[in-house]
Formats: sequence, C-alpha cells, structure tokens
Amino acid sequence: MDSPGLVVVGASLAGLRAVEAARLKGYTGPVTLIGAEPHLPYDRPPLSKEFLDGPEEPEPPYFRTAESLRTDLGVDLRLGAPATALDPQGRTVTVAGAPIRYEALVLATGAQARPLPGTVGMAGVHTLRGLDDARAIRSQLVPGIRMVVVGAGFIGAEIACAARRRSVAATVVEAAPAPLSRAVGADLGPVLGEVLRRHGVDLRCGGQVAELVGGDRVRAVRLADGTELPADLVVVGIGAVPATDWLVDSGLKLDAGVVCDETLCAGFEGVYAAGDVVRWFNPAFGQAMRLENWTTAAEQAAVAAHNALTPGDPRPCATVPYFWSDWNADRVQFVGLPDGEEVAFVQGGPDSGSFLALYRRGDRVIGALGLNQRRAVIRLRSAIGRGVGWDDTVAALRG
Ligand code: NAI
Repeated sequence: MDSPGLVVVGASLAGLRAVEAARLKGYTGPVTLIGAEPHLPYDRPPLSKEFLDGPEEPEPPYFRTAESLRTDLGVDLRLGAPATALDPQGRTVTVAGAPIRYEALVLATGAQARPLPGTVGMAGVHTLRGLDDARAIRSQLVPGIRMVVVGAGFIGAEIACAARRRSVAATVVEAAPAPLSRAVGADLGPVLGEVLRRHGVDLRCGGQVAELVGGDRVRAVRLADGTELPADLVVVGIGAVPATDWLVDSGLKLDAGVVCDETLCAGFEGVYAAGDVVRWFNPAFGQAMRLENWTTAAEQAAVAAHNALTPGDPRPCATVPYFWSDWNADRVQFVGLPDGEEVAFVQGGPDSGSFLALYRRGDRVIGALGLNQRRAVIRLRSAIGRGVGWDDTVAALRG
C-alpha cells in the first residue's frame, strides 16, 4: 500500500523549508504542501521594505516557481484552500471538506495580523501580513498622502521608513511608552525611537487610538486625548496572533500557539510544528517560547521535518532568536532575549549612528542589540548560544 507520506500545512517560509529539508535528507515518499493563500510560497521580509519602493510594483518575492516545486521537490501543491481540521488519531487533515492522510505532519500555519477592533472593512485601513496586503498598501502609498500607522513594532517602524522614502508623511501612534519594547525591552526602545525620528517619522508614544474617523473611507485617526490626525491611509501593526483556530477541536494542546516539546513534537505521533505558530521548549534558554523570526522559522522547519520523518532519532531545537529590521540605510539587529536585568553599551552610545548593547541575566549575556553592527551581532548569536559570561564579553568588546 502507498505511504500517505509527509503533509505540511502552511506554504510560507517554515512550510517550504520543511519540504526542502525532507528532500535534502533523502526522503523519497509523497509530500503534500497545503497553503491557504492562492500564491506560491513567497518571502515576507521584503513586503514591508523594498517591495513598497518605486512607482512600478516589483515581482512578488516567490521562493521557487511552481515548476521547481513540482519537479525539483516533487510536491503535490494544494494552494488556495486552508486546512480546516486535524484528526491526530486518524492521521488526517481536512482540506476543502476532504480528508488527506499523513504519516508525518508539519504544522506551519504561522500567524495572522491582529486587526484594530471596529475598523475591519473600512477603506484605506490595512494590516500588513501577506502579499495582497502589501500590494494594496503600495498602490496607495503615493507622494503627498498622509499616513498614520498604529503600533510602533516591526511593521510600524519599517512601513513608516518606507513611506518616508516615498515622500509620504508618516505618523506612528504607539500605546506603550516606547517603540519595539516587546522586541528589544523597555531600556532600549526609546533609543530606537530616536533613530526612527531621525528618519523623519513623527512618533507619538503613549497614545491611545479612540476611533477612526470617516464613513466608508478613513479620513482621520482620533486619539483618546482628542488629537485628530488626518489620514488618507492607516496601517495597523499591533501584533500577530498564531493561526490555531482550525485546531481547537483537534486535541492538540494550544496556549497562544501549538504547544510542543523541545523536539517540536505536538504530543501526538507524527505531529510536529514549526514557525510562528509553535510554542516550544527551547533548550538554549531552558524556557518555553514562541518566536516570530524568519531565521528561527527556517531552523525549526528543518528540525521538525527531520523529527517527523525520523522519530527514532529525534533532535532538540535549540536556537538563539535573531531578527533584523531595515530602516532605510540603518540596519537594526537583535539576538537572544530582551528581558535582561541590566543593559550596557559596549560600542557607541544611544545617540551614535552605530552601537552595540548587551543584555545580562545573572552572569550570562542573554541578548544583544546592534545598530549598523552587522557582523558583531551575528558573532554574538553563537556566543550567546555557548552561554558566554558577562564580565569577559563586556571587557573584550569594550577593548
Ligand atoms: P509587534 O508585536 O512587533 O508590534 C506591535 C506594536 O503595537 C507594539 O509596540 C505594541 O505596543 C503596539 N500596540 C499594540 N496595540 C496597540 C494599540 N491599540 N495602539 C497602539 N499601539 C499598539 O507587531 P507588528 O509590528 O504588527 O508585527 C507583526 C509581526 O510581523 C512581527 O511579530 C513579525 O513576525 C513580523 N514582522 C517582522 C519583521 C522583522 O523581523 N523585521 C518586519 C515586519 C513584520
């Protein structure tokens, strides 16, 4: 009898990397890749960066052609219909009302943009998660318009910088006292806020959006203090929620993500998860976490595919988080965790155009933030993975 093979749910970075890893390790059985969007797998980082530049829309950043997916990877590609149910006992996933059998399963459904309540469907208001969102935003991002961004996280910072490149006025309203606090912590959030302001972004922290003004189409954003910010375009970047709705009746443990052990196993034979959807025990830090990082998603996918196909030889997924964000010519990079007990600059300072800061927990370095310090941050990623000590590292980097 034919093997039901490997089924991967989610056709973005983690899903595609899982398929590639399976083939790379020599798996020759059937592989099915299921994607909710009609598009071929594409890369998301450019969508809030260079995809928004220039008058002509660039080619979508597809990873591979349909031909390459079918012939080089031997994938049965099912695009345009989401998986709606999982039966881990019967080993089936439901797509378009029909069950698909699997031997090994990788869940890589990612996360969805969180909408601002009461604004869904209002013209001129967008979240930015997928290719269609990016296309809609770039078509409205024409010189002279006024854009308001709600949320000063990754999306807010990158799209505000992209707007400035297109001569669009960009006001960013952030509820917290500083931007990117979740990503880099409360100490260095304000430092990044000043970097954004140097790019001409009007950043307003501690601001609460009371309502969006306009009928069918947005005209302004009204803040809780009564300020009205005129807006032809509003981009909402207030975080993402893991795409687990379809799994509520599956019996899988869900806790703001699919809960997995250190091997990315979701608690049922053959079921593994990777990417933004997974909350797993990361042995590198001895704690459970869910990450929304490109690099981590790719690393998790390779481990999940290996473990799903070779359950007798499971590998742990130990990884040091890493993200980068491009703000015009400035590159912001972070490795590790931001919840340290102390933060210290080891190169440059808060006002310099290039700096490196370390985060301490106990006597270990647990994180590093760099502005225009490309190689130094990457080197610190492996150092943090090795558990380097604080005193020695600070002394060595201060030279
Ligand atoms: P985020 O979690 O990075 O930032 C959301 C921000 O919105 C936070 O600063 C939060 O305090 C603020 N906020 C929340 N509710 C608010 C409200 N009602 N009013 C005003 N501010 C509010 O999420 P973001 O920027 O939406 O990005 C979503 C995901 O997209 C990221 O987690 C990441 O996976 C991905 N992404 C990553 C990039 C990168 O790594 N360079 C670039 C763009 C997106």
